[in-house]
Amino acid sequence: MGASRPEPAQRPRGPEQEGGPGQEGVPGRQNGWVMGPDAGRGAGAGILISLEGVEGSGKSTQCRLLLAWLRDQGVAVTTVREPGGTDLGERLRAIVLDPALGPLRPETEVLLFAAARSQAFVERIEPALSRGDVVVCDRFVDSSAAYQGAGLGVDAEFIRRVNDAVTQGLRPQLTILLDVPAGVGRERRRQAAAELDRIERRDIAYHEAVRTGYLALARREPGRFMVVDGTGDPETVHDAIQGAVARALASRATGGRG
Ligand code: TYD
Repeated sequence: MGASRPEPAQRPRGPEQEGGPGQEGVPGRQNGWVMGPDAGRGAGAGILISLEGVEGSGKSTQCRLLLAWLRDQGVAVTTVREPGGTDLGERLRAIVLDPALGPLRPETEVLLFAAARSQAFVERIEPALSRGDVVVCDRFVDSSAAYQGAGLGVDAEFIRRVNDAVTQGLRPQLTILLDVPAGVGRERRRQAAAELDRIERRDIAYHEAVRTGYLALARREPGRFMVVDGTGDPETVHDAIQGAVARALASRATGGRG
């Protein structure tokens, strides 16, 4: 299992870096941690794990359980929820999820989530990976592909380019997809008597398209995704997640040979 990084580093260069030694010859080495085929293998290189799923898939519960388990293992861990995790991100979150917000062009929605992600990336994710932390993201770029791409029909290439620009093409080493039918997720939200936000209010066909989109992403990248049946009880789901994360950590410790 390795992180995939479709393109060379996109970080804008200052004049002092222009054509600097080793820039082209060391693929993806940025700020002391490694992106690309060797991601997660260097000393101090962190590992990025994302959790994805439709509304009511149990993602928040599972994030909490995973965090507790990692801390129990003595692992240095940073968690980031998207959108959010920074001052700007939390403010943008309030805007994009506000049911009172007027109609948005779907591409604008992509850009708003990407703006929040850009800030989370530089303020939270990149520094934590540089420290060697395990970074657990409650949603990452796949949310945009599923919710705005599969759900709203935004061009996949547009989403990829925008997000590659803000994350330097970084992909998680492991993405856990909690799969539940959209109707099951909606019923859970109803039972929790949760007030539905702007995106949750979209109809069930939208949420089913998001789920289908997620499953298509998982099929395309089976080495990165682990699909977990989210309809099981929380302990069973946690056990499955724990196993996958333990394997990812062991693979990091052995430089991918384990
Ligand atoms: P959140 O409360 O995190 O949802 P959940 O509790 O289900 O995880 O709200 C995030 C919402 O934003 C959720 O509806 C998914 C949506 N979203 C996108 O549409 N695109 C994105 O890129 C991200 C990160 C989230």
